[in-house]
Amino acid sequence: MKIAVIQGPNLNMLGVRDQQVYGPMRLEQIHAQMKDFAGQNGIDIDFYQSNLEGEIVDKIQECYGDADGIIINPAAYSHTSIAIRDAISAVSIPTIEVHISNIYRREEFRQKSMTAPVCTSSIIGFGPFGYHLAMMGMMQILSEIQAIQRAQQGTVEE
Ligand code: DQA
Repeated sequence: MKIAVIQGPNLNMLGVRDQQVYGPMRLEQIHAQMKDFAGQNGIDIDFYQSNLEGEIVDKIQECYGDADGIIINPAAYSHTSIAIRDAISAVSIPTIEVHISNIYRREEFRQKSMTAPVCTSSIIGFGPFGYHLAMMGMMQILSEIQAIQRAQQGTVEE
């Protein structure tokens, strides 16, 4: 089972930027915790961060045929990017959108996500812990998919 974690613009500045909104944890620390959890659960995990919209689109496309699930924080592009939305939709991989802050309690322009409607689910406003919740959520989603596939194979074999 492989999960790709994709982080959008300015998330490489976590721990430095707007600490009252995003807290003091750095992206490397969040990823280290996710890696530990993945290791404990036998999951392959791949981390990617980019400040560029097209690179994020490329990365999502590269997940096709490679990753079983995507955890993505498109950051500011969540609110603007039809290209990232279309890429998520195109690959049809279970995808969880994470926002560290509660975007619904912030400026109006952050309260709409272009990308969330094509994701399987969203985790919003839990701080960095949201990434851990996303990992747990993804394990649940993927095990349900595997159970359905096993049941279908069983039906075909009978
Ligand atoms: C964010 C929320 C976005 O509005 C913002 O542009 C970010 C981070 C979050 O995780 O809370 O960069 O996606």
